[in-house]
Amino acid sequence: MTKVIDGINISQNLKDNLKKEISFLQSKHNKVPGLAVVQVGDVAASSVYVKAKTKSALEVGIEVIDHHLNSETNQNDLIKLIYKLNHQQNVNGILVQLPLPDHINEQVILDSIDPEKDADGFHPLNVGKLSISSKNDENLLLPCTPFGCLLMLKELNVNLEGKNAVIVGRSNIVGKPMAQLLLKESCTVTIAHSKTTELKKLCMSADILVAAIGKPEFIKGDWIKKNAIVIDVGINRVQKEINGELKNKLVGDIDFEEVKIKASAVTPVPGGVGPMTIACLLKNTTTSFKKNLLK
Ligand code: GUN
Repeated sequence: MTKVIDGINISQNLKDNLKKEISFLQSKHNKVPGLAVVQVGDVAASSVYVKAKTKSALEVGIEVIDHHLNSETNQNDLIKLIYKLNHQQNVNGILVQLPLPDHINEQVILDSIDPEKDADGFHPLNVGKLSISSKNDENLLLPCTPFGCLLMLKELNVNLEGKNAVIVGRSNIVGKPMAQLLLKESCTVTIAHSKTTELKKLCMSADILVAAIGKPEFIKGDWIKKNAIVIDVGINRVQKEINGELKNKLVGDIDFEEVKIKASAVTPVPGGVGPMTIACLLKNTTTSFKKNLLK
């Protein structure tokens, strides 16, 4: 029987534990973690994510410092805001929602965030730490989506050592850090991308397949090795005919109904990786807060 990995449930457990921990720390130190949420412009998908992140943060007892700037904001003004947040005592985590408008250089902005407040784990120092740190380093600020994928894999209680892991997608946000995390688990890792030849054949060799390409239902059932574990990072809005009517629907990068027949475990969209990304953002913010308490 294929297991559909329940990201809502796993993320809820994680959030419940964070809420308890934050409440305990508040009673001891009279402080709660603070997360600055910075959005520039009004990209519809970003607004949805920011709203969901804010709601979850408040639920676990994290204070949210909201900065919604207009799409014309210039790069220098955004950097000035980040410097201010870097020094602000009640801010432990800074999240700059991506993508940013074209006139702003994303990497310059990510580089300006204090690495100790880097709730997304995108700063070059944290990217470097991920690649050289030991397996169980609790203090790392890990990119939230791959971190969430790893926690879902761990919930399955399967031995990851020596497994062939194929990651489709080489982004800085998902593909590359996912590869580092699975390498640390002693998987044999391959990153595939748009120029990979014989992609289907490569996917068929995967014991663990992570799909992060941004193409709706791209990976089909006959690409999957029997009993593989499949993690679907894609969130694609498509129109589908349901009972003769065109309806908007969220789908992942895998053809879920087909893949489900072959895989031993698979994440759904929605309700898979998405909620885990948010829970890991809250976990990172709490990690930064705890480190700051020790200073
Ligand atoms: N845009 C898409 N995914 C993410 C994410 O994980 N963090 C941020 N900041 N922006 C994103």
